[in-house]
Amino acid sequence: MATINSNFLKLKAGYLFPEIARRVREYSEKHPDLAARIIRCGIGDVTEPLPQAVVQAMHQAVDELAVRDSFRGYGPEQGYEFLRQAIVDHQYAGLGISADEVFISDGSKCDTGNILEIFGKGNVIAITDPVYPVYVDTNVMAGNTGEADASGAYAGLLYMECNASNGFVAAVPEERADIIYLCFPNNPTGAVASREQLEAWVNYAQAHGSIILFDAAYEAFIQDPEIPHSIYEIPGAREVAIEFRSFSKNGGFTGVRCASVVIPKGLVAKADDGSEVALHGLWSRRHSTKFNGASYPVQRGAEAVFSPEGKAQVQQLINHYMGNARLLREAALAAGLKIFGGINAPYVWVACPEGVSSWSMFDRMLGEAQVVITPGSGFGSAGEGYFRISAFNSRANVEEVCRRLQALLA
Ligand code: MLT
Repeated sequence: MATINSNFLKLKAGYLFPEIARRVREYSEKHPDLAARIIRCGIGDVTEPLPQAVVQAMHQAVDELAVRDSFRGYGPEQGYEFLRQAIVDHQYAGLGISADEVFISDGSKCDTGNILEIFGKGNVIAITDPVYPVYVDTNVMAGNTGEADASGAYAGLLYMECNASNGFVAAVPEERADIIYLCFPNNPTGAVASREQLEAWVNYAQAHGSIILFDAAYEAFIQDPEIPHSIYEIPGAREVAIEFRSFSKNGGFTGVRCASVVIPKGLVAKADDGSEVALHGLWSRRHSTKFNGASYPVQRGAEAVFSPEGKAQVQQLINHYMGNARLLREAALAAGLKIFGGINAPYVWVACPEGVSSWSMFDRMLGEAQVVITPGSGFGSAGEGYFRISAFNSRANVEEVCRRLQALLA
């Protein structure tokens, strides 16, 4: 009989967001009269339509595909030159990144998971707690961990606790870590890292030969001009960091799917024989073997995010969601809750009322207010006692959530 990858059996529960959806479905079936009242502020999924510039570019690309002379089949696996160059010009200008160091894909979730394929076994892997669950679960699947303990922490991972006292930004550990996941602006806490904090990480990685996997999927939401948008703003980062970016949250591409990864050519890690091997070549090989590129209309749509009209329209979307975040922050504060994030990120991280656990708060919000939030403990044991409210919603829904939250806690 064929065998399975038994690492999957170590996974604690269903992936967080499908698990939340399952509970919401169950609630709706039990309370059909209340189902229509449910407002979803759980998963960070955009609600506003695509920017018009993107829509037009995608329409035009489809029209090109409808005509023999402009038809295109397989595109370059690493992405079309026009998009790779636009990313460099608009997101990495002056940071020493070249277009052939940018790889286009169909999403950061896949990229942050798939990247493990080019790393060996036995690396010490550092992740923050709380954390975007994909980083943990993909390491479990890859066999990089032991079993989980009662708190859900997996043996073999180096957890870096983030809490109110460190402003939800992990300090560099005393131990050696070979691979370090950092996400700023942070999902789920909404925290951002200052230049000095990122410098400390780059210095640490240089000293230990570590690779930083820097997830910048939410960089477009940064409002504070002092906060770096890219790890490559830090001198030396080219030698130690891979950066992930996404069109999901700025361009509203959660359903369209497009993202990018930067792997600088000089970035190396050790082979079994001790020699140093460039990660760029490995990822390129992996990409060309397992991926045929994001679709042409999607890449044209992503390119349009950087046109003057596209930029202005994306800015309107960001303003909309950050306006939501402000309302949610104010309502949670007025309800007597302690809040974090929501200033440079579309997530508000809220401390549950004294003595209430994350999942109890989830049940209360769903059962009594018909509002779906994300329980903090779903992001790791250090998230216990918190919940996350996503600002991705219509203004009317957010205003209603604010009213219900205040009524619930009055
Ligand atoms: C979230 O809610 O944390 C995000 O939507 C997850 C994702 O981007 O995959």
